[in-house]
Formats: sequence, C-alpha cells, structure tokens
Amino acid sequence: MKHLSKLPNVGTTIFSVMSALANEHNAINMSQGFPNFKSDSKLIDLVSQAMNSGFNQYAPMPGNMELREAIAKKMELLYNSTYNPETEITVTAGATQAIYTIISTFIRPNDEVIIFRPAYDCYEPAIEINGGKTISIQLNAPHYKVNWEEVSTHFSSKTKMIIINTPQNPSGSVFTKADMLALQKLTENTNCIVLSDEVYEHIIYDGLEHESACKFPGLKSRSFITASFGKTFHNTGWKVGYCCAPKELMDEFKKVHQFNVFSVNHPTQKALADYLKEPNNYLGLSEFYQTKRDLFLSLIKDSRFKYIPAKGTYFQVLDFSEITKENDVDFAKRLTINHGLAAIPLSVFNDNNKDDKVLRFCFAKTDDTLKKAAEIINNI
Ligand SMILES: Cc1ncc(COP(=O)(O)O)c(C=O)c1O
Repeated sequence: MKHLSKLPNVGTTIFSVMSALANEHNAINMSQGFPNFKSDSKLIDLVSQAMNSGFNQYAPMPGNMELREAIAKKMELLYNSTYNPETEITVTAGATQAIYTIISTFIRPNDEVIIFRPAYDCYEPAIEINGGKTISIQLNAPHYKVNWEEVSTHFSSKTKMIIINTPQNPSGSVFTKADMLALQKLTENTNCIVLSDEVYEHIIYDGLEHESACKFPGLKSRSFITASFGKTFHNTGWKVGYCCAPKELMDEFKKVHQFNVFSVNHPTQKALADYLKEPNNYLGLSEFYQTKRDLFLSLIKDSRFKYIPAKGTYFQVLDFSEITKENDVDFAKRLTINHGLAAIPLSVFNDNNKDDKVLRFCFAKTDDTLKKAAEIINNI
C-alpha cells in the first residue's frame, strides 16, 4: 500500500534517541525531562482511594468538576484571575494533547503560526498536520531574549496564532512583564490567538514571578493557557494536564476534544482534585528545584562548561565551546557513549539546526545523581 506521509520530515525524536543511547551505554540520563524521584506517596494513595471509592467510569467530558474547581481556585490564588470551571477549563491528556487540540481547533491551511526557537518539539508537527505554516523566530544564546520589533515584522493578518512558552524549555529563560506587555500590544485589535504554554509555571527562580498570560487582560481574552500536572507533581507518566481559556475559545476547543479524547483518566483526576486543594503541595516547588539547580551549578563551577543559571524550568543549558569544536549532536553522543552522561543538543530545537554549542541538562534528579553527573562534567 502506498501513502503520502503528512509529516514527511518527522523522524524519531531526539529524546527517544538520547534515552535509548543512555540505556545502551548505562549512562546517567539527564536528557529527557522527567524526575528520577518519586511522586508524593500521599498523592499515590489518593489515586488508590479514588479507584476504591468508585471513580472508575468516564469522567465528564471537560474533566472531573472538583478538579476544575480546584484549578479555578489556584488561578485565582496565584494570578488573581477568574476562570469559570463550568465553561473555561478543560482537563486534558497532558499539556501535549491540549496543545495539539488547540492547534487543530483553530489552524486552517495556510494560516501562519509564530513560534520562538529553540522551541519544544510538539508545536511544529501539530501546525503542519493541520496545513498551517510555522513562522520561526530564532532566539539566541545565552539570553534568548525576544526582539519584539523583529516579531512585528513577521506579524500580519495571516498570523492566526502565536505560541509562547514561559518558563521556556529548553533554554530555561522566562518572559518578563515587559515581554508580555509587548505581546499584548502586538496582538491588540487582531484576531490572533495566543497559546501560552505554561507547564513550568511553578518552577521559577531567584525571586522572579511567573508572568502568566492571564495576568494581562488584553492577552487573557485571546489566550489558551496550557498546564501539566506531570511537571508539577513529578509524575510525567500519568499524562494529565489542562487548559484554560475564555468561554468562546473553549467552546470551540471542546468540540474537537470531545471526539478525540472525550475524557481523561478519572481516578487520577479525582486524586489531583484532592491534592491540589492544598496550595503547599505546589508552592514549594520553585524552592525545591532552585536548591537542585544551585547544587548542580556549584558542583560544576570549576568545569570547562560555561553557563548562565536557568531562570525557570528544570533544565540547565551548558555551553561547551571551550571544550570542543564538534557539533552539538556529535558531542552529546560522545558524552553519552564515552563518558556515561546523556544530555540534549539544543540545535534540534533551532531553526535550520543552528548550533550554538550548548547542551540541555535536566536537573530534576536526586542529589546523588547530580553529584555523579557533576563528577563526569568536571573531568571533561
Ligand atoms: C514546554 C513543554 N510543553 C508541554 C510539555 C508536555 O507536557 P505533558 O507531559 O503534560 O504532555 C512539555 C513536556 O516536556 C514541555 O516541556
């Protein structure tokens, strides 16, 4: 049988490649973005309780109501922003599904979607499969700052959507209030939708505040915010997330969601609803990861890698330009095979695989793993 691929340029993701290489060579895996420590046992017990008390059939299509209410309360508490849990919040199978469904709901052939590179890898294939055109704006190491004048030169009536991600994977940079105000101004009086991927909202450092799109009224009215419980509660394998948006946008989203996913794993939703009611379960996350970032960086401060401390996320970018002239993919492979440490080369997230000689290390790891990784890094 012959068929024409709808995604001819998509192969195996770098995450699978590096994780397979890490396994094959028994390397420490700092490549893929998941913690190697356990989720809180209280949360795991809550899932068993939910199963034992009968939450085993379909959840309502937009999600368990208690969970949607808990999400609405969290948005109110953190950002002083009101979302109606009946109509403006949908629980999804991870943020990835929310992102895919948002793009599928609104992007038609030839619509343009602006993304900032280096970009998380699920945006572009979703745009492409729906016939949209990705307009990439390349940000540069080491600060990955947006030049909003440059963005405005790419912005036109064809721009149906802008995707932002703050705190940003893979660079560890964050959007400031000035960035959000510039985006608000750029999109004012247009029909452009903003997809604000905020899966690392609770992981931000050095006293910085997360600038959620919902804090800016002009942005909130055109934005979907996507979030991930996997990132927040150390259980990426559960694949539960959600999105929030004004009712008119969410009504359209739900039309697609109900025939694609319909509803998400119910006992997990019930457990997350109970767990989310206690704000201390997420408010300490920045401090928790900042301690890990600081430990990792203090251990490698005398190495030949250069860095600017990540401002958010659990990823640290390290510059290896003083070590080798190899391209980043080759160096990442050599680091895994010869030295036993896996990381992700940033070029895979860039326009035309631009190589800034930097690798991304996930520091959501036990202190013991971070110490072992630092030993390797210090010997390179
Ligand atoms: C920026 C970003 N968005 C979305 C996701 C996907 O989140 P989930 O695992 O909830 O689908 C990730 C996961 O790595 C991410 O880094």
